[in-house]
Amino acid sequence: MENRIEEIKRDIALEIEQVSDSKALYELKTKYVLNKVGIIPALMKELGKASKEDRPRLGQIINALKDWATEVFAEKEKVIEEIERKARYEKEAVDITMPSKKAEVGTLHPVTLIKNELVSIFAGMGFRVVETREIEDDFHNFTALNTPAEHPARDKQDTFYVSDDFMLRTHTSPGQIRSLKSIEPPFKVLIPGRVYRADDDATHSPMFHQMEGLVIDKNITMCDLQGMLDVLVKRMFGENTQTRFRPSFFPFTEPSVEVDVSCFECGGKGCKLCKGTGWIEILGGGIVNKKVLENCGVDSSEWTGFAFGLGLDRIAMLKNGVNNIHILYDGDVRALKQFKD
Ligand code: DAH
Repeated sequence: MENRIEEIKRDIALEIEQVSDSKALYELKTKYVLNKVGIIPALMKELGKASKEDRPRLGQIINALKDWATEVFAEKEKVIEEIERKARYEKEAVDITMPSKKAEVGTLHPVTLIKNELVSIFAGMGFRVVETREIEDDFHNFTALNTPAEHPARDKQDTFYVSDDFMLRTHTSPGQIRSLKSIEPPFKVLIPGRVYRADDDATHSPMFHQMEGLVIDKNITMCDLQGMLDVLVKRMFGENTQTRFRPSFFPFTEPSVEVDVSCFECGGKGCKLCKGTGWIEILGGGIVNKKVLENCGVDSSEWTGFAFGLGLDRIAMLKNGVNNIHILYDGDVRALKQFKD
């Protein structure tokens, strides 16, 4: 028996040397010390066969073997635990010098950026923003704006009719009518929004954006429009920007003008952007036609006004050097994310 015990000790010492992970160690421990299946507990069972005199002594040495083995395994367990912990830490280590993953942050649409810029400039001049409906009737979109019955704009080829009586608004000017009918003068409103026309090429999209302005007060003249526009264009395009008024015609304003700004790319010398003219057209406007005021029940002998309308998409394109309007609406994120605030 003593010999076997020595042998077992030697085997354990040899085999434990080979063990390098906790799984193998557990298997080895099972083989030698686990109750019922282990070699050492089996020795205990054999004790029953030994003679009465030998039994106490043998019992002692088997117990001593068991204690010794338990300790040897516990020590090895500690060593392996430490090695495995180190390995795990190394594997899970974070390299804080690695460049981080960039989170993609969305940007506002270029037209929204222009709209926000204009709204904040006009808000500083006392305008309030009003949003009116996109589906309009003939009265608000045309008739009340003094557009004659035979006017080509009413043509089915230009206007998207949704029924005999209703259409997608072709401009934001019907917002003037809705404001005149619902707000007590004097007032200043700004009406931004989507508008629709059956037009589609590099510089026209069937859906685009306008911003209408309407000021109603006493004794308004063209000078008021000019003074306000001067402030606007200097804030929008830079201090040195000049404005130029050209006579024009709109049914809802009399007199009517088209307004150009000195080219913000070349400063007026002439370049590709302004097609060599030094000027860029940015809006239409004029003195509100008396007929429009009367159509809305506003006394034209007491009240006067000016109105203007500008194309937000056009300004977004000009300011960003975009030559095709569809770039704004094709939804290609690679293009859109270049337009930052
Ligand atoms: N509604 C016009 C258009 O869509 C733009 C316009 C011109 C608006 C003159 C106005 C204005 O308020 O006074 O072409």
